[in-house]
Amino acid sequence: MDLAKVNSIREAFKRAGHAHVFRYWDELNPRSKTRLLSEAQTIDLDEINKLVARHVLIDSASELSGDKLDDLEPAPFIQNPSNGGDILRWDKAIKTGELAIRAGKVAAFCVAGGQGTRLGFNGPKGTFPVTPLTKKTLFQVFAEKIRRSSKRYDTVIHWFILTSEINHAATVQHFEFNNYFGLPLESVHFVVQGLIGAVDQKGKIILSGKDTIARTPDGHGGSLRALVRSSAIEKMEMLGVECISYFQVDNPLIRIIDPAFIGFHLEEDSELSSKMIPKAYPLEKVGHFCVQGGKTVVVEYSDMSETMQKATNSAGALHYISGSVAIHIFDRDFVARVGGGEKHAELPFHRANKKIPFIDLAGNIQNPDEPNGVKFEMFVFDALPLARNAIIIESIRADDFSPVKNSTGVDSPKSCSEDMLRSYARWLTAAGVNIEVDTSGLPLINFEISYSFAADQEDFVKQWHALSNKPHIVDGLIIEPEI
Ligand code: UTP
Repeated sequence: MDLAKVNSIREAFKRAGHAHVFRYWDELNPRSKTRLLSEAQTIDLDEINKLVARHVLIDSASELSGDKLDDLEPAPFIQNPSNGGDILRWDKAIKTGELAIRAGKVAAFCVAGGQGTRLGFNGPKGTFPVTPLTKKTLFQVFAEKIRRSSKRYDTVIHWFILTSEINHAATVQHFEFNNYFGLPLESVHFVVQGLIGAVDQKGKIILSGKDTIARTPDGHGGSLRALVRSSAIEKMEMLGVECISYFQVDNPLIRIIDPAFIGFHLEEDSELSSKMIPKAYPLEKVGHFCVQGGKTVVVEYSDMSETMQKATNSAGALHYISGSVAIHIFDRDFVARVGGGEKHAELPFHRANKKIPFIDLAGNIQNPDEPNGVKFEMFVFDALPLARNAIIIESIRADDFSPVKNSTGVDSPKSCSEDMLRSYARWLTAAGVNIEVDTSGLPLINFEISYSFAADQEDFVKQWHALSNKPHIVDGLIIEPEI
């Protein structure tokens, strides 16, 4: 171990007010010393101390609250044809999008670096089994959709996956074990996002063990700088990728490759396009697409008063109706700019109070019952006000969004699996096949449509009609591609 290097790292922590990180140094064996040092080297002390000064040492409970919401207006959006939108305009966008997909200009980008604490699953969230019958994992669902879209558009769709140091190895192992789900190896790219030190209420970096610093991923907004820092953006440029289709790992209903969405993004020369879904009820816990000072922003439900969330217009419809569901198309050069840390284009950090295990002065690990620390994270939607021509298109919830967030209840494996079944039923009905469903549209049998057979409803209808041997829809059926 290079003593001069050790001393200089320790000195830097001392100067920054975090000397306590090395409190147990003299007790550590060489392996633990190496571990602590390598973790310490990942900490950007300057960044942490600026965040502490801004978010911990002064009271900043909310960055967008009270009078800051005065000049807020609902953001305009392009209406879906099923809700009165202009069908010819959508058809034109679909054609534009299809051309771009065929030309290899679109890549998929799944953010899977989160910790998935609410689900309480031991492993990367993408390895969670979700499909109703065969229990395919989230990653397999996305892989099948991407493989099917590549085939459909006669191209190779590259897939970038954001992991964090915490779940990277297990994620890669899942792909290797499953032979990358049949995807070309060279089309799957992992990008590891940064971790940032967590601090206590006084702004001191928390030690979670004698040789371990409490670090957490820097938020889904950190995905943009991870794309730049890992050179994935340069790789995209080399591959000819111009549009990045961004989605979250917990939403298997997502239409990853959606020509209409891509088409609108290109036709409007947008740097960042988003899908909105109408809120299901006034107090639904989603962000709201709004306009403030001429810029598009997302305002979290927690930052908006109940009165605003419930407000209606003269026609009785919700004033702030546009729910944000974290589905975006990014322009590659925009990510290079925003993720490259240019001062005028940096995403802000937010603070979150969390229960963070720590080691006490007696050397015992403590698991607090109440939030004792602060974690910092960036939100991807904070890129919206920085984007030129940010546009929003309306999507239909049932076709695009049913996340797995909680272990039970709303947005759980059960609700998501049922939503998948409902979508299969709608696809079959659209293809002219009768299927018995209950009043909520849920089929009375359990079956599955493989996403390697069809990635969305339009695709399914075509594929179904092309099938030479159409199966009877019975319990236990799996509709798969004909070999
Ligand atoms: P969530 O906000 O739902 O967080 O992330 P989470 O970590 O998955 O789950 P909880 O809150 O601990 O229960 C939304 C999406 O953003 C990704 C997640 O993997 C998920 O796809 N994400 C979140 C990252 O990629 N990195 C992060 O630092 C945070």
